[in-house]
Amino acid sequence: MTSFPALVTEHFDPSIAEQIGKSELPPRFLVLYGSVRERSFSRFSAEEAARLLTRMGAEVKIFNPSGLPLPDDAPETHAKVQELRSLVRWCDGMVWSSPERHGAMSSILKAQIDWIPLTEGAIRPSQGKTLAVMQVCGGSQSFNAVNQMRVLGRWMRMFTIPNQSSIAKAWQEFDEEGRMKPSAYYDRIVDVVEELFKITLILKGHADYLADRYSERKENHQQLTARVNQAKI
Ligand SMILES: Cc1cc2nc3c(=O)[nH]c(=O)nc-3n(C[C@H](O)[C@H](O)[C@H](O)COP(=O)(O)O)c2cc1C
Repeated sequence: MTSFPALVTEHFDPSIAEQIGKSELPPRFLVLYGSVRERSFSRFSAEEAARLLTRMGAEVKIFNPSGLPLPDDAPETHAKVQELRSLVRWCDGMVWSSPERHGAMSSILKAQIDWIPLTEGAIRPSQGKTLAVMQVCGGSQSFNAVNQMRVLGRWMRMFTIPNQSSIAKAWQEFDEEGRMKPSAYYDRIVDVVEELFKITLILKGHADYLADRYSERKENHQQLTARVNQAKI
């Protein structure tokens, strides 16, 4: 995991939390990205989102997927799997930033989600948390990866925010240090992150209430675990 210095920018209002009146508890965000390339634009854009969230007053952690085994190719006790799962339990919301590969999210992004259990006992670790989705494209702007990640977010029972980021020809948008050049794409990331921050503040502390379902109250916890826990099938 890496932490990044706050970005000094005039592009957004850092008093959002005070406006909402819930600034006493900083929201916590986990940032996932879907590439292990040294000069990875999906990581660079994820880092921009992390800087902005930090500047707004959030606690942010970025998971490095390098060394994470393929799903089911290692025991759950693997250190990288444990690290990822504990970060998911820790956070209030997430950012997923994937490259588009063959018209889809990358396998590296998907493998991280596949390691997040739908249930731990009767608890769904991702349930009720917020999510922002971002992608980078090698060619013209496309939305395949963000659309797929929205479906994945629904599957993980997360609240995916309406705004999203898709950077066309991403190789043109970053400088040598991996910082994003000023552009409408950068402004969009600020918009996305602001929206994620605000919606997370509003939902924070209410995840259990929001995720409480009639059909699951009818089922006892043992039945629920047996039904949704794949490892027991
Ligand atoms: C195998 C492969 C498939 C790709 N498919 C697409 C694609 O379908 N659409 C697209 O816009 N870019 C595609 N790209 C370009 C990548 O999205 C682009 O290189 C991106 O920057 C990679 O992400 P990264 O910089 O985070 O590693 C593809 C690249 C590779 C290597």
